[in-house]
Amino acid sequence: MKPTKATITFDNTLKPIELPVLSGTAGNDVIDIRALGKHGVFTYDPGFMSTASCGSQITFIDGEKGLLYHRGYPIEQLAEHCDFLEVSYLLMHGELPNATEKNEFTKTISGHTMLHDQLNNIFRGFRRDAHPMAVMIGVVGSMSAFYFDAMDVYNPQHRAISAHRLLAKIPTIAAWSYKYNSGQPFMYPKNSLNYAENFMHMMFATPCEEYTPNPVLAKAFEKILILHADHEQNASTSTVRLVGSSGANPFASIAAGIASLWGPAHGGANEATLQMLEEIGDVSRIDEFIKRAKDKTDTFRLMGFGHRVYRNMDPRAAIMRKTCHEVLNELGLQDDPMFKLAMELEKIALEDEYFVSRKLYPNVDFYSGIVMRAMGIPNSMFTAIFALARTAGWIAQWSEMNADPEHKIGRPRQLYTGEARREFMPIERRT
Ligand code: ACO
Repeated sequence: MKPTKATITFDNTLKPIELPVLSGTAGNDVIDIRALGKHGVFTYDPGFMSTASCGSQITFIDGEKGLLYHRGYPIEQLAEHCDFLEVSYLLMHGELPNATEKNEFTKTISGHTMLHDQLNNIFRGFRRDAHPMAVMIGVVGSMSAFYFDAMDVYNPQHRAISAHRLLAKIPTIAAWSYKYNSGQPFMYPKNSLNYAENFMHMMFATPCEEYTPNPVLAKAFEKILILHADHEQNASTSTVRLVGSSGANPFASIAAGIASLWGPAHGGANEATLQMLEEIGDVSRIDEFIKRAKDKTDTFRLMGFGHRVYRNMDPRAAIMRKTCHEVLNELGLQDDPMFKLAMELEKIALEDEYFVSRKLYPNVDFYSGIVMRAMGIPNSMFTAIFALARTAGWIAQWSEMNADPEHKIGRPRQLYTGEARREFMPIERRT
């Protein structure tokens, strides 16, 4: 029988404290510690290694078994049968859309892809060589200065309008961050294309030439979007929830999520993987870098390897690995030195005792970085594309939080380790 109570005993309490144990529909039970504070004690868990920060019905991960489900559907089935907008609808609404709902949703999203024309000026305020993620944080944050007619976060209709605006406009913002960076004119969205193709069009087309997306690459890009759409309470999603918990508007909350995603330990890993491969440069230097990754006195880590939750192959990595080979074959890049180096690194790390014993498998970003590189997407856009895909998950999680009657402003406690009270010292007596 499952335990329903946990008991904590302190030296200084007369009676043990009983805490309820909550069970979800899958995954670990959790001890509900909310009542602990009134007994004068908090819990300590830097990095949330053992703490559930919320209840959620959106995504479930079993890191030991390498499972990822969205609303109960395994990621393998969604990646095989759905397009990105269907998965986004599922994340946001809890059910897969029927044909009519899918049509309506697609129409709504493609009807909102343009940006307010004044937003062009926001792009033009940045340096040309600004990182696309820096531009995205700024532009998404500034959306709250343009679309404030529907920002009542406690109004479900307003939440839906903001969600549609974000999902529809984020590809335009990401693509324009690149266009501005590269000095090419902004390409307006083409609503006859699907979501993935439209983004490729805005990235790669110019007003001078027709651009027809290669169907193998468009399919691969759609997979990248689906595989990155949501991933439970990771750093950026928790950031969106924490920022949004104060009632902050959706654009400010998602801009904060983008900022969190930028870090190399999170979404920045796909860009860092390619930078690392460039630094390694040649198969003959792999051993040297593997040695450095194992050396605890060296800060170097093998980028694109390891994951906080997966202690098994990340199911998204398995799908992206297959897509990676399809794209390399399609483009005839199997013998490209950079890709050969990546495949050799993957092989060596998968056999090395250090990586095997720590269950450090290549993660989805290892392969998605290689795929995007092969597609001609510059390294600096990798994390921006991750942000574009994850916007679907962020808005679903943000909406779920705002609709949750148990939601409270996020306000963690701390273990204070600074000076206890002391008396003020006038400056002339300070040594
Ligand atoms: N290279 C070398 N050693 C590693 C790596 C790595 N990439 N990742 C973890 N380790 C080692 C650690 O040094 C530690 O070794 P020890 O037990 O001897 O001290 C052990 O493996 C456990 O690692 P932790 O740091 O405790 O794992 P944590 O869960 O905190 O970190 C993280 C996970 C941040 C993803 C880490 O694996 C990492 O930095 N990887 C590289 C960056 C990366 O690819 N990030 C993408 C994550 S996926 C995503 O955001 C979609």
